[in-house]
Amino acid sequence: MLNVSDLTPAEWCQIFFVANAGFILMLQALPDDMRRALMDYGARRATSRQASAKKGQAEVPKEGFFDVLTSYGQVPHSWFIHFYITSVSWSIFWGWQFVSKGSVMRALAERQHRAAGNEPSSEVELTATLVAWLLMSSQGARRLFECLFVTKPGSSPMWFVHWVLGLAYYTTLGISVWIQGSGAILRSWESPQPIHFTPQIIIGAAVFGFAGAQQNECHRYLAGLKKYTLPSEGWFKYFVCPHYTFECLLYLSLAVVAAPTGCWVNGSILCSLTFVLANVGSTAYGTKIWYAEKFGADKVEGKWIMIPFVF
Ligand SMILES: NC(=O)c1ccc[n+]([C@@H]2O[C@H](COP(=O)([O-])OP(=O)(O)OC[C@H]3O[C@@H](n4cnc5c(N)ncnc54)[C@H](OP(=O)(O)O)[C@@H]3O)[C@@H](O)[C@H]2O)c1
Repeated sequence: MLNVSDLTPAEWCQIFFVANAGFILMLQALPDDMRRALMDYGARRATSRQASAKKGQAEVPKEGFFDVLTSYGQVPHSWFIHFYITSVSWSIFWGWQFVSKGSVMRALAERQHRAAGNEPSSEVELTATLVAWLLMSSQGARRLFECLFVTKPGSSPMWFVHWVLGLAYYTTLGISVWIQGSGAILRSWESPQPIHFTPQIIIGAAVFGFAGAQQNECHRYLAGLKKYTLPSEGWFKYFVCPHYTFECLLYLSLAVVAAPTGCWVNGSILCSLTFVLANVGSTAYGTKIWYAEKFGADKVEGKWIMIPFVF
């Protein structure tokens, strides 16, 4: 029987990611209008589609009960910036905790290490932990930079539930990046630990850098479009939402970098990937429907939505 008080911090993070991924996947089984009212944000959302329809660009969609319900608590899509402020803030906080041997990191790390002591296979080395922290910091900082200086401001909305979930996601991810390295962190506070770059860390970091650079290209391209036109250059020739493809690749490569010794991936970060897959996957699916309605089904036919050969 699962005893909640025995759960490690890493397991709490994993449960958060997987439960939310499961919840998002369950929403996919809802009738289309309900699913879209609950899930769609940005230009895909009915209110945005209605606004463009009124400008004569498309047929006016009908407002259902769930559209009306979720019309309460709408916040601007541009509040995505708060996710990256949160992400960078947590990266700074955990970095400072590490350097100053802070009490919050110590409490979590000791709890994690006590439980994982019997299971050294889930322990991550110091180098992998620090590189993963550094990569996550760079991802948060790049996205913050893009929100401030690249993204074209728009007036499309998102439901506050997405916003709250996003803030919780980046908070949990900030912990997941280092928590399985708790043993190595605690040891490094007692005596210097060797820094050792394995091929896995180097390859994972290189893929992470590639995915980040390509995602940045996608964001720059979207920012250069007249709102709302069909993206069709670069990776958008092959994918409906390549920026989401690279988001998944970013977290997959991060999971490889932060893998425990002898493993291919870090379980906590892999769980965050299930959340990302469910979340951006359902948004990408909604984007394909939106583009098909707005520009014609033939314009998106033959493109992958997000994952080559699969989705
Ligand atoms: N880790 C996660 O769980 C997670 C979840 C969601 C997103 N993300 C990441 O966050 C980044 C942004 O995601 P997003 O969902 O906000 O992307 P998005 O809905 O595609 O919007 C990105 C930007 O492009 C604009 N845009 C989108 N389609 C356009 C079109 N056809 N023509 C002109 N402009 C267009 C949007 O304008 P408007 O502002 O006017 O809508 C917005 O400024 C992505 O890289 C994604 O991977 C991560």
